[in-house]
Amino acid sequence: MSATEQIEIRRLGVTEVQAQLDGLAAILVDCVAGGASVSYLAPFSHEQARAAFEAVAVEIEQGRRLLLGAFANGDLVGTVHLILALPPNQPHRAEIAKLLVHRSARRRGIAELLMAGAEAEARAEGKTLLVLDTVTGDDAERLYQRLGWMRVGVIPGYALYPDGRPCDTTIFWKALQH
Ligand SMILES: CC(C)(COP(=O)(O)OP(=O)(O)OC[C@H]1O[C@@H](n2cnc3c(N)ncnc32)[C@H](O)[C@@H]1OP(=O)(O)O)[C@@H](O)C(=O)NCCC(=O)NCCS
Repeated sequence: MSATEQIEIRRLGVTEVQAQLDGLAAILVDCVAGGASVSYLAPFSHEQARAAFEAVAVEIEQGRRLLLGAFANGDLVGTVHLILALPPNQPHRAEIAKLLVHRSARRRGIAELLMAGAEAEARAEGKTLLVLDTVTGDDAERLYQRLGWMRVGVIPGYALYPDGRPCDTTIFWKALQH
């Protein structure tokens, strides 16, 4: 991060998601093109990515999910989802998903700031337990361990990389202090 770079993390409401669809899609397309296993297979187009965020906007409107954006000097460079819609017997829990930082903005601490923002939002929603899963052995796994997440274990062959190769998944949890 340069001394003058301003990073802002903020919640994106429905209107802003709709206004930022191209920027959001660009981040998702870039991460999938970079080989990230985040639900999608190659080839993954800008239009498919826009459609994915249109669906996210519907969930935000329904209160089922929150989306945080990271802005570097005003440009959208990263996102993370906080999933709130869980079964009635898990009202205290939320899930973190799709922590994404554009390849051009990595290794500047933006993911760490997004995770801090997601935890703050979860606390504000009254949540006391967070869960996430991530590809075993990738950069994100190191990040979560550094941020104090508890590693449960590995599920072999849980998902696929964009090119169709299988990848293992590590499950993490974190208790939130109030
Ligand atoms: C995982 C991911 C979100 C990390 O994003 P990021 O913004 O680069 O993360 P951070 O900058 O917070 O940390 C990454 C590394 O940069 C280092 N770093 C942070 N700030 C730094 C700085 N100012 N100077 C140098 N290094 C720095 C961190 O220590 C960390 O080092 P490590 O990899 O050796 O542990 C990003 O690689 C990504 O989008 N990957 C593809 C999608 C994905 O797999 N997401 C996870 C799905 S659950």
